[in-house]
Amino acid sequence: MEAENEDYKKEEHRVLTTILVFASVAIASLFVTFSYYCYLRYKLSKRFNTHKKGINNEEKTSKLVNIQVKTEKGLQIFTFKQLHSATGGFAKSNVIGHGAFGLVYRGVLQNGKKIAVKLMDQAGKQGEDEFTAEVELLGRLCSPYLLSLIGYSSESNHKLLVYEFMANGGLQEHLYPISGNKTVSSDLNWETRLRIALEAAKGLEYLHEHISPPIIHRDFKSSNILLDKNFHAKVSDFGLAKLGSEKAGGHVSTRVLGTQGYVAPEYALTGHLTTKSDVYSYGVVLLELLTGRVPVDMKRPAGEGVLVSWALPQLTDRDKVVEIMDPALEGQYSMKEVIQVAAIAAMCVQPEADYRPLMADVVQSLVPLVKLHRSSKPGSCPSFQATQSPKA
Ligand SMILES: Nc1ncnc2c1ncn2[C@@H]1O[C@H](COP(=O)(O)OP(=O)(O)OP(=O)(O)O)[C@@H](O)[C@H]1O
Ligand SMILES: [Mg+2]
Repeated sequence: MEAENEDYKKEEHRVLTTILVFASVAIASLFVTFSYYCYLRYKLSKRFNTHKKGINNEEKTSKLVNIQVKTEKGLQIFTFKQLHSATGGFAKSNVIGHGAFGLVYRGVLQNGKKIAVKLMDQAGKQGEDEFTAEVELLGRLCSPYLLSLIGYSSESNHKLLVYEFMANGGLQEHLYPISGNKTVSSDLNWETRLRIALEAAKGLEYLHEHISPPIIHRDFKSSNILLDKNFHAKVSDFGLAKLGSEKAGGHVSTRVLGTQGYVAPEYALTGHLTTKSDVYSYGVVLLELLTGRVPVDMKRPAGEGVLVSWALPQLTDRDKVVEIMDPALEGQYSMKEVIQVAAIAAMCVQPEADYRPLMADVVQSLVPLVKLHRSSKPGSCPSFQATQSPKA
């Protein structure tokens, strides 16, 4: 009986050992299988992700070469080819102007939208800086009184800016129109001139007072006031603009740029630049609107060559102001309004910058004189807070 018991126990031990061995092998195989499964999953997902990235990159590249891509700032990036075809191969017949930046072409996008394309001259470092400045600034600015930058193209040597098209071009073309090689009479009546003065003032007011830190235009002049098909005005060309100092009364010292006849005396002499330098240039444009004369014309009789020097003493004399008025207006204006505009112009072109008004004051003074002007579209623009510090 005892021997039988002993055999039974041995048998039980053997079975248990066998079960344990099998169980351990099973667990070990399960573990190995699971590890292998995880390894396979990891490999597969890695391969899938690489493939997906590839597709995304391909999508991006194909969009870049295909159609305009919206940048973060809402600007469109064009290919050189697109702008080449929009301007008829940069045809001579599509040239609408030539400025410091280069030639300006009229063009039409595939969706039928009319554009103006500025093709940057290859030479000159200044042009490249202007390009970057315009793209950065204009893309972020939003006002009905500023010319909209639609997009740009920057491929190897070619740099182009794409603007909304302004059917009536620059203000100077209408103040001193030339037909053939003859100067013809201006098509701008007094009411239109007043409205242009107000809209341009609002453009500068936006740059100076609605943006932090303020933007100094630095090249405000009649050719940088563009007119749409209804002669509404927009301020253009911030290529020379620099971000102004945030500090009250702060200024940006820089080499003197700008256009002869428009540059404030303190800026020309010392390079000391504030928003009041723009106010001076604005005053010169007001004088152009009143007199129909260019800012500097050395072919005129002695003492009349520089518009500011000639006009200033007469602006505050009620009897004399009529003598400086543009003959093209044929006396079709209200003397009361002329006297007010002349007084604003006189304040703007004062040699002492501190005594010049703010653009907001100018706007306030002009508003009651202008019957029909656009009201700004409220709420459509995000507020602009520039992060860059003023460039030296
Ligand atoms: N968006 C536009 N729509 C229609 N015409 C334009 C546009 N931009 C420029 N022009 C025309 O091209 C001309 C030249 O403009 P551009 O800005 O290149 O030179 P500028 O104003 O004479 O000098 P600067 O280069 O110093 O600004 C303008 O006077 C205007 O007639
Ligand atoms: Mg210009």
